[in-house]
Amino acid sequence: AEPLNIALAGLGTVGTGVVRLIETNAELIARRAGRPIRIVAVSARDRTKDRGVDLSGYDWEDDPDAMTLRDDVDVVVELVGGSDGPALTLVRGAIAHGKGLVTANKALIAHHGMELAASAEKAGVALKFEAAVAGGIPVIKGLSEGAAANAIDRVYGILNGTCNYILSTMEDTGADFGDVLADAQRLGYAEADPTFDIEGVDAAHKLSILAAIAFGARLRFDTVETMGISRVKAADIEQAHTLGYVIRLIGTAEIDRSEAAPRLFQRVRPHLVPFGHPLAHVDGPTNAVVAEGNFMGRLLFQGAGAGDGPTASAVVADIIDIARGEKGATFSMPAGELEPMEPAPTGHRLGR
Ligand code: NDP
Ligand code: HSE
Repeated sequence: AEPLNIALAGLGTVGTGVVRLIETNAELIARRAGRPIRIVAVSARDRTKDRGVDLSGYDWEDDPDAMTLRDDVDVVVELVGGSDGPALTLVRGAIAHGKGLVTANKALIAHHGMELAASAEKAGVALKFEAAVAGGIPVIKGLSEGAAANAIDRVYGILNGTCNYILSTMEDTGADFGDVLADAQRLGYAEADPTFDIEGVDAAHKLSILAAIAFGARLRFDTVETMGISRVKAADIEQAHTLGYVIRLIGTAEIDRSEAAPRLFQRVRPHLVPFGHPLAHVDGPTNAVVAEGNFMGRLLFQGAGAGDGPTASAVVADIIDIARGEKGATFSMPAGELEPMEPAPTGHRLGR
């Protein structure tokens, strides 16, 4: 069968993970995709950097946008990051030139997901972003496919691996916040700007995407009430422990049906979680998402939320879907039926 040719923009933690995964599992992937997946071009800023993977078999493009013009590229994989700038230009260009698009970039999807989904639908190409929410956990597929028949009124969980790693390590070892954050950066869990992690912005990006998928709501990241963990002290963690709780950063999206028109509320904030609750046992860079549906009951998705291998696994699963012929975007449901509520004036509203 004809190979599916991909171009990879971004060769950091996730990009090199994708190269390793496609090389290591090439045969298995080809069998499951029905055709080989072949990397034809790669791009990053620094051509000379040793990335621990052999890139000699692929064309190097200094300008990632050049990949969107190549006739031999079927799918562009955006692993650069950032809600605007080069990532947005690349993704818009790829769709305009009829390429399928896979991204792990939640900031980009949270800010521009609706626009990009509409252009992908119009162009008849795929826009896939499984890795953007909860790393290796197939929660987007789980909610949009597995839970498709359900009315879901609440989705909540641990959506940021860096914060969970910091909180659980501080609790287990008494280590200093800054030291554990530095470890999370070294291990490749944190965003290029880690304030996105510790101020709750990354979790808010993911929550707004999940809410759009779970409820068919308009994607409105700007309406997520957000508070991070930067003000959580070791003494808070210790005191919570004495009282039978752990502290976790939790994102919650829920529909309030107490009035004639349903209202959607979205918030991210540190919570006290009692020892007996399943989320209290989610440690390290693990994520967990709970979804409650009217026929399926409560589903718990749990697994690695960050890191090269798990995130690459979700990226390549999306590439396999495209190889099998999938087109369009997961937001193809009529969006905007449910408009998220603005946060209360006292809430922690985000300007970015
Ligand atoms: P890194 O910072 O490790 O890698 C980013 C890559 O993009 C680097 O190779 C960098 O080049 C390249 N790059 C940056 N700017 C440009 C540019 N202007 N033109 C071309 N290339 C550029 O990030 P990650 O791999 O960690 O993350 C990538 C994406 O995946 C982000 O959107 C992130 O949010 C998301 N993600 C990350 C996860 C993780 O666990 N790390 C998990 C889930 C999603 P160079 O190497 O030369 O500097
Ligand atoms: N920085 C993110 C996290 C990466 O720590 O969860 C995964 O999206």
